[in-house]
Amino acid sequence: MTFTSTRFGQFTYFSKQLGDANWRGKNVLDFGGNVGNILRDPNSTIDPERYWCLDVDKESIEQGREAFPRSHWIFYDRFSFFFNPHGTPSLPLPEMDESFTYVVAYSVFTNTSQTDMLELVEDLKSKLTPGGALAFTFIDPYYTTWGAERGRNNLQWRLDLETERRHITADEANDVDQRAQGAKWFILVNGGDLYIETENIRRYACEDQRTFHVFHTTEYMKSLFPDATILPPVNNEMQHCCIIRN
Ligand SMILES: C[S@@+](CC[C@H](N)C(=O)[O-])C[C@H]1O[C@@H](n2cnc3c(N)ncnc32)[C@H](O)[C@@H]1O
Repeated sequence: MTFTSTRFGQFTYFSKQLGDANWRGKNVLDFGGNVGNILRDPNSTIDPERYWCLDVDKESIEQGREAFPRSHWIFYDRFSFFFNPHGTPSLPLPEMDESFTYVVAYSVFTNTSQTDMLELVEDLKSKLTPGGALAFTFIDPYYTTWGAERGRNNLQWRLDLETERRHITADEANDVDQRAQGAKWFILVNGGDLYIETENIRRYACEDQRTFHVFHTTEYMKSLFPDATILPPVNNEMQHCCIIRN
Protein backbone atom coordinates (compact mmCIF):
# COMPACT_ATOMS: atom_id res chain seq x y z
CA MET A 1 0.00 0.00 0.00
CA THR A 2 1.38 3.37 -0.96
CA PHE A 3 1.24 6.52 1.14
CA THR A 4 0.90 9.96 -0.43
CA SER A 5 1.75 12.83 1.84
CA THR A 6 -0.94 15.47 2.20
CA ARG A 7 1.28 17.87 4.13
CA PHE A 8 2.60 21.04 2.56
CA GLY A 9 4.74 23.93 3.76
CA GLN A 10 7.89 21.88 4.37
CA PHE A 11 10.09 24.48 2.63
CA THR A 12 8.73 27.32 4.78
CA TYR A 13 9.27 25.17 7.87
CA PHE A 14 12.89 24.23 7.13
CA SER A 15 13.91 27.62 5.72
CA LYS A 16 12.72 29.25 8.95
CA GLN A 17 14.43 26.67 11.12
CA LEU A 18 17.69 26.94 9.14
CA GLY A 19 17.51 30.74 8.84
CA ASP A 20 17.99 30.66 5.08
CA ALA A 21 15.25 31.35 2.54
CA ASN A 22 17.50 31.26 -0.53
CA TRP A 23 18.31 27.68 -1.49
CA ARG A 24 19.08 28.52 -5.15
CA GLY A 25 22.27 26.90 -6.37
CA LYS A 26 22.30 24.51 -3.40
CA ASN A 27 21.98 20.73 -3.57
CA VAL A 28 19.13 19.44 -1.43
CA LEU A 29 18.48 15.87 -0.31
CA ASP A 30 14.90 15.30 0.89
CA PHE A 31 15.18 12.12 2.90
CA GLY A 32 11.77 10.41 3.06
CA GLY A 33 10.55 13.17 0.76
CA ASN A 34 7.63 11.09 -0.57
CA VAL A 35 6.19 12.81 -3.70
CA GLY A 36 8.28 15.96 -3.18
CA ASN A 37 5.72 18.26 -1.53
CA ILE A 38 8.59 20.51 -0.42
CA LEU A 39 8.88 21.60 -4.09
CA ARG A 40 5.17 22.51 -4.14
CA ASP A 41 5.59 25.05 -1.35
CA PRO A 42 4.97 28.47 -2.97
CA ASN A 43 7.96 29.84 -0.99
CA SER A 44 10.34 27.16 -2.28
CA THR A 45 13.58 28.43 -3.83
CA ILE A 46 14.91 24.92 -4.49
CA ASP A 47 16.23 24.42 -8.04
CA PRO A 48 14.36 21.29 -9.23
CA GLU A 49 17.52 19.97 -10.89
CA ARG A 50 19.37 20.28 -7.56
CA TYR A 51 16.73 18.31 -5.67
CA TRP A 52 17.17 14.63 -4.72
CA CYS A 53 14.42 12.62 -3.06
CA LEU A 54 15.09 9.28 -1.40
CA ASP A 55 12.13 7.26 -0.15
CA VAL A 56 11.16 3.72 0.77
CA ASP A 57 7.78 4.08 -0.95
CA LYS A 58 8.25 3.08 -4.59
CA GLU A 59 5.01 4.54 -5.90
CA SER A 60 5.66 7.92 -4.31
CA ILE A 61 9.05 8.03 -5.99
CA GLU A 62 7.41 7.27 -9.34
CA GLN A 63 4.72 9.93 -8.83
CA GLY A 64 7.36 12.46 -7.83
CA ARG A 65 9.42 11.70 -10.91
CA GLU A 66 6.40 12.21 -13.12
CA ALA A 67 5.59 15.59 -11.56
CA PHE A 68 9.20 16.87 -11.40
CA PRO A 69 11.19 15.07 -14.11
CA ARG A 70 14.24 17.35 -13.76
CA SER A 71 14.71 16.27 -10.13
CA HIS A 72 16.35 13.04 -8.94
CA TRP A 73 14.16 10.29 -7.53
CA ILE A 74 15.66 7.29 -5.79
CA PHE A 75 13.77 4.33 -4.39
CA TYR A 76 15.44 3.09 -1.22
CA ASP A 77 14.26 -0.43 -0.43
CA ARG A 78 14.87 -0.29 3.31
CA PHE A 79 12.48 -1.83 5.83
CA SER A 80 9.93 0.49 7.37
CA PHE A 81 7.23 -0.90 9.69
CA PHE A 82 4.35 0.73 7.81
CA PHE A 83 5.82 2.33 4.68
CA ASN A 84 7.88 -0.62 3.43
CA PRO A 85 7.28 -3.77 5.50
CA HIS A 86 8.92 -5.99 2.85
CA GLY A 87 12.08 -3.87 2.65
CA THR A 88 15.55 -4.89 3.81
CA PRO A 89 16.35 -3.99 7.42
CA SER A 90 19.38 -1.68 7.84
CA LEU A 91 19.99 -1.46 4.09
CA PRO A 92 22.84 1.05 3.58
CA LEU A 93 22.07 4.32 1.80
CA PRO A 94 22.42 4.04 -1.98
CA GLU A 95 25.66 5.23 -3.54
CA MET A 96 25.41 8.92 -4.41
CA ASP A 97 28.21 11.00 -5.86
CA GLU A 98 26.71 14.32 -4.80
CA SER A 99 27.06 16.10 -1.50
CA PHE A 100 24.37 18.40 -0.17
CA THR A 101 24.10 21.83 1.41
CA TYR A 102 20.87 20.74 3.03
CA VAL A 103 19.63 17.29 3.95
CA VAL A 104 16.09 17.51 5.32
CA ALA A 105 13.74 14.87 6.70
CA TYR A 106 10.23 15.98 7.57
CA SER A 107 8.25 13.52 9.68
CA VAL A 108 10.47 10.57 8.81
CA PHE A 109 12.16 9.65 12.10
CA THR A 110 8.76 10.06 13.73
CA ASN A 111 7.95 6.73 12.02
CA THR A 112 11.19 4.77 12.31
CA SER A 113 12.87 2.92 15.14
CA GLN A 114 15.45 4.77 17.19
CA THR A 115 18.14 2.39 15.95
CA ASP A 116 17.24 3.37 12.38
CA MET A 117 17.25 7.06 13.26
CA LEU A 118 20.69 6.91 14.88
CA GLU A 119 22.15 4.87 12.02
CA LEU A 120 20.60 7.03 9.29
CA VAL A 121 21.52 10.34 10.93
CA GLU A 122 25.18 9.26 10.96
CA ASP A 123 25.00 8.21 7.29
CA LEU A 124 23.17 11.38 6.22
CA LYS A 125 25.72 13.60 8.00
CA SER A 126 28.39 12.12 5.75
CA LYS A 127 26.49 13.47 2.70
CA LEU A 128 26.80 17.13 3.77
CA THR A 129 29.08 19.67 2.11
CA PRO A 130 31.34 21.63 4.48
CA GLY A 131 29.06 24.25 6.08
CA GLY A 132 25.99 22.20 5.19
CA ALA A 133 23.22 21.14 7.56
CA LEU A 134 21.04 18.15 8.30
CA ALA A 135 17.61 19.12 9.62
CA PHE A 136 15.02 16.61 10.75
CA THR A 137 11.86 16.69 12.76
CA PHE A 138 10.65 14.89 15.85
CA ILE A 139 7.55 15.01 18.03
CA ASP A 140 7.78 15.93 21.69
CA PRO A 141 4.80 14.17 23.32
CA TYR A 142 4.42 16.68 26.15
CA TYR A 143 4.62 19.83 24.02
CA THR A 144 1.35 21.51 23.06
CA THR A 145 0.62 22.54 19.47
CA TRP A 146 -2.40 21.41 17.46
CA GLY A 147 -4.37 20.46 20.58
CA ALA A 148 -3.71 23.81 22.29
CA GLU A 149 -7.29 25.06 22.09
CA ARG A 150 -8.47 22.02 24.00
CA GLY A 151 -5.49 21.96 26.36
CA ARG A 152 -4.22 18.70 24.82
CA ASN A 153 -0.51 17.99 24.30
CA ASN A 154 0.94 16.30 21.19
CA LEU A 155 0.46 12.78 22.56
CA GLN A 156 -3.10 13.53 23.66
CA TRP A 157 -3.81 15.09 20.26
CA ARG A 158 -2.69 11.84 18.58
CA LEU A 159 -4.73 9.71 21.00
CA ASP A 160 -7.82 11.85 20.40
CA LEU A 161 -7.39 11.26 16.66
CA GLU A 162 -6.97 7.51 17.11
CA THR A 163 -10.13 7.48 19.24
CA GLU A 164 -12.05 9.55 16.70
CA ARG A 165 -10.99 7.09 13.98
CA ARG A 166 -12.14 4.24 16.25
CA HIS A 167 -8.72 2.59 16.28
CA ILE A 168 -8.84 2.65 20.07
CA THR A 169 -11.45 3.39 22.72
CA ALA A 170 -11.43 6.46 24.97
CA ASP A 171 -10.47 4.22 27.90
CA GLU A 172 -7.53 2.78 25.98
CA ALA A 173 -6.44 6.31 25.06
CA ASN A 174 -6.54 7.42 28.71
CA ASP A 175 -4.60 4.35 29.73
CA VAL A 176 -1.84 5.03 27.16
CA ASP A 177 -1.70 8.67 28.24
CA GLN A 178 -1.28 7.69 31.90
CA ARG A 179 1.33 5.02 31.24
CA ALA A 180 3.41 7.23 28.95
CA GLN A 181 3.74 9.99 31.57
CA GLY A 182 7.38 10.83 32.25
CA ALA A 183 8.82 8.55 29.56
CA LYS A 184 11.81 9.95 27.66
CA TRP A 185 10.69 8.28 24.46
CA PHE A 186 8.16 5.71 23.33
CA ILE A 187 6.53 4.09 20.33
CA LEU A 188 2.79 3.89 19.68
CA VAL A 189 2.01 1.05 17.27
CA ASN A 190 -1.35 0.89 15.50
CA GLY A 191 -2.76 3.65 17.66
CA GLY A 192 -2.87 1.91 21.02
CA ASP A 193 0.09 -0.46 21.57
CA LEU A 194 2.52 1.47 23.74
CA TYR A 195 6.20 0.52 23.99
CA ILE A 196 8.06 2.64 26.52
CA GLU A 197 11.79 3.18 25.94
CA THR A 198 12.14 -0.12 24.09
CA GLU A 199 12.18 -1.30 20.49
CA ASN A 200 11.33 -4.79 21.56
CA ILE A 201 7.92 -4.90 19.94
CA ARG A 202 5.83 -7.99 19.40
CA ARG A 203 5.51 -9.52 15.93
CA TYR A 204 2.79 -8.06 13.72
CA ALA A 205 1.71 -9.62 10.43
CA CYS A 206 2.58 -7.35 7.49
CA GLU A 207 -1.07 -6.50 6.85
CA ASP A 208 -1.43 -5.47 10.50
CA GLN A 209 1.48 -3.02 10.37
CA ARG A 210 -0.56 0.17 10.23
CA THR A 211 1.11 2.97 12.17
CA PHE A 212 4.35 3.39 14.08
CA HIS A 213 4.45 6.76 15.81
CA VAL A 214 7.62 7.54 17.70
CA PHE A 215 7.77 10.31 20.32
CA HIS A 216 10.92 11.79 21.84
CA THR A 217 11.17 14.47 24.49
CA THR A 218 13.32 17.49 23.67
CA GLU A 219 15.64 16.69 26.62
CA TYR A 220 16.13 13.16 25.38
CA MET A 221 16.91 14.34 21.82
CA LYS A 222 19.51 16.72 23.29
CA SER A 223 21.14 13.77 25.02
CA LEU A 224 21.13 11.69 21.79
CA PHE A 225 22.51 14.54 19.66
CA PRO A 226 24.59 16.76 21.97
CA ASP A 227 26.05 18.75 19.04
CA ALA A 228 22.64 19.55 17.55
CA THR A 229 20.56 22.69 17.82
CA ILE A 230 17.01 21.80 18.80
CA LEU A 231 14.28 24.25 17.91
CA PRO A 232 10.56 24.37 18.71
CA PRO A 233 7.97 24.01 15.93
CA VAL A 234 7.34 26.91 13.50
CA ASN A 235 4.87 27.53 10.68
CA ASN A 236 1.96 26.13 12.74
CA GLU A 237 3.53 22.68 12.74
CA MET A 238 3.60 20.23 15.65
CA GLN A 239 7.13 18.94 15.10
CA HIS A 240 10.38 20.14 16.65
CA CYS A 241 13.51 20.44 14.52
CA CYS A 242 16.93 18.98 15.19
CA ILE A 243 19.71 20.66 13.22
CA ILE A 244 23.20 19.24 12.86
CA ARG A 245 25.66 21.50 11.05
CA ASN A 246 28.80 20.25 9.36
C1 LIG B 1 4.90 11.05 7.09
S1 LIG B 1 5.65 10.83 5.54
C2 LIG B 1 6.39 12.43 5.24
C3 LIG B 1 6.70 12.63 3.79
C4 LIG B 1 7.37 13.93 3.42
N1 LIG B 1 8.60 14.15 4.14
C5 LIG B 1 6.43 15.08 3.59
O1 LIG B 1 6.62 15.88 4.51
O2 LIG B 1 5.49 15.19 2.77
C6 LIG B 1 7.08 9.81 5.90
C7 LIG B 1 7.86 9.44 4.68
O3 LIG B 1 9.09 8.83 5.07
C8 LIG B 1 9.33 7.70 4.27
N2 LIG B 1 10.20 6.81 5.04
C9 LIG B 1 9.89 6.07 6.13
N3 LIG B 1 10.98 5.41 6.57
C10 LIG B 1 11.99 5.74 5.74
C11 LIG B 1 13.37 5.37 5.67
N4 LIG B 1 13.93 4.52 6.55
N5 LIG B 1 14.12 5.90 4.69
C12 LIG B 1 13.57 6.76 3.78
N6 LIG B 1 12.28 7.12 3.79
C13 LIG B 1 11.50 6.63 4.75
C14 LIG B 1 7.94 7.15 3.98
O4 LIG B 1 7.89 6.31 2.87
C15 LIG B 1 7.14 8.44 3.78
O5 LIG B 1 7.18 8.87 2.45
